[in-house]
Amino acid sequence: MLSEILEVIGPMPVILGILLFLVAAVKHSSLFSQSSKPGRFTPVAEARQLPHSIPSKIPYVGHMMGYVRDGHSYFSSLCGKTSQPVFTICMAKVKLSLVKPELARDLPKVRHLSLGPLVLQLFRRSLNLGEFSCSLLKEEDEMSRKFAPEISRLFREEFIPNRNLRKYVEEIDVYVHREIMALEGLQTIHLEDWIFKTLVGALGKSLWGGDDGPFGAPEFVAHLRMFLMNMKQLNAPATFMIDKKLLASRSFVRERLEHFSFEKYTEKCEAGTGAIEETFLGRVQALCLEHGAAAEGWTDYQLLLIAGLSPNVMAASTWMFHHLLADPELMTQVRDEVGDCVKKSNGSIDLADMSDSCPLLSATWLEVLRFHGGFSLGRYVHEDTDLASKYLLKKGSYVLAPLRPHHFDRQSWGFAVDEFIPGRFLKANGTLDEIQRRKLRVYGVFGTLCPGRYLAVHMAMALTVRLLLAFHMAPLNASYVPPGESKDTVAGLATPEFDVEVSITKRETSYDGLKIRFKSSRQTF
Ligand code: HEM
Ligand SMILES: *[C@@H]1O[C@H](CO)[C@@H](O)[C@H](O)[C@H]1NC(C)=O
Ligand SMILES: *[C@@H]1O[C@H](CO)[C@@H](O)[C@H](O)[C@H]1NC(C)=O
Ligand SMILES: *[C@@H]1O[C@H](CO)[C@@H](O)[C@H](O)[C@H]1NC(C)=O
Repeated sequence: MLSEILEVIGPMPVILGILLFLVAAVKHSSLFSQSSKPGRFTPVAEARQLPHSIPSKIPYVGHMMGYVRDGHSYFSSLCGKTSQPVFTICMAKVKLSLVKPELARDLPKVRHLSLGPLVLQLFRRSLNLGEFSCSLLKEEDEMSRKFAPEISRLFREEFIPNRNLRKYVEEIDVYVHREIMALEGLQTIHLEDWIFKTLVGALGKSLWGGDDGPFGAPEFVAHLRMFLMNMKQLNAPATFMIDKKLLASRSFVRERLEHFSFEKYTEKCEAGTGAIEETFLGRVQALCLEHGAAAEGWTDYQLLLIAGLSPNVMAASTWMFHHLLADPELMTQVRDEVGDCVKKSNGSIDLADMSDSCPLLSATWLEVLRFHGGFSLGRYVHEDTDLASKYLLKKGSYVLAPLRPHHFDRQSWGFAVDEFIPGRFLKANGTLDEIQRRKLRVYGVFGTLCPGRYLAVHMAMALTVRLLLAFHMAPLNASYVPPGESKDTVAGLATPEFDVEVSITKRETSYDGLKIRFKSSRQTF
């Protein structure tokens, strides 16, 4: 019996590693203390019931093994096995309440939830976070609890208004354009590797000092990719279990970020101005310093930002090309749609207007988000609280909302939910169906939405339009099907299981002068 289990789970060190990690976490962290303080009688809490608990076949570690084996789909398969709208499971000593779509509308109203402690669990080891960042993320005191909302506000104010978006989109497109020009003369690219380099590089340059910043160095981006794509291994509890190359990449990235901020800092002191406050990153840094971060804390925070904001948009864009490559007819239709649009507007395209001007391309993007949006979102419960005025969520536990049940529900999406069909986001006359779009939950279910959601789609569209118009692309393997999803993705959209090499040939119709603009005041996402 046990050997069978291990067979499905794979290499022993992984499962052992995770076990050790959780046991160590339980020992050393007060975060996991499950029992809230006994005592004060609160009639409100009295009326609430604890969610039904689902035991695992193998006591204590069964659910954890399920998660290691199946990734996030383990959680959604549990959702399918019970009629309860919310239920709890224990993974070792960690208690999770899983919330199904029936109660998702109530999630924004739940109090005493925070994201920090969950971020800490996901990234503490893999990013090698220092003590300061850990205490800030635990959000145990008033001061650190204020930090997260202030950061959120900073991001919303920076990435939601159109005038700022325009600046970022145009800047990012300059970098994307440059990478596309650099493809000329090449016969093949490694899809994911190239998209990572291009998109994460462009976003990084636009935030971190352009070509002179850390993202201006190709080896920085290469090391970053190396370690961001292997976060699960970096979570191993003991250093000897981690590939030395990964550790070296992480150190490289950390050092460059540290070095960069140091340079910025001395520049500022020499100039004797408040220049540091004038850039967005400077404002984030100022906020960190205000909350007591030292140099190390700031490096940690930069890493958290990079790990949090780049992989999703990179993964979604890569999936988009996998699906276009797997369906040449779709690829042709999308390319024609984009080409027509560019011709009609004299060699330019307005990213703010894509859902009207290129509905099929927009629908393909949305279908990528639905189809690969099978991850889970979560929060830490830092005080006893209640859900839907009915269920009690205990202090010290986590709430988890698996997104797969939202995105693969037959009642809500109708036909063939397991197939990739962009057309489900289109109306009969070919325009984009807003009602379908609103069913997506990839940007959040806890009341706040990803502040980068507009920037993400515009970046992805700029890249897709430029690449499609400049090159014919074909998989090297004639019987091409998109790769499966990696089970190792720590947060957000799963990445493809492996990278593929794709042949590229320059198209005759030249769109070299293509202008990508951001004009109209309408928002799309
Ligand atoms: C398709 C791409 C993206 C997806 C699917 C996505 C999704 C998400 C999700 C699910 C959250 C957490 C929401 C929650 O738990 O409540 C989040 C948070 C966040 N995202 Fe994105 N994101 C994407 C791209 C981006 C980009 C390009 C940026 C860059 C600006 C960004 C910046 C952020 C930030 C700063 C947060 C934290 C917000 C906070 O603490 O209030 N995201 N994103
Ligand atoms: C395109 O350019 C031509 C000539 O420069 C001009 O007459 C026409 O109005 C332009 N069309 C649009 C949609 O900008
Ligand atoms: C497409 O159909 C919708 C109703 O389903 C209508 O509101 C819209 O105006 C139509 N658009 C076009 C371009 O025909
Ligand atoms: C081509 O793809 C098929 C199906 O995915 C696979 O079985 C085969 O090994 C691939 N061949 C090469 C040369 O990659």
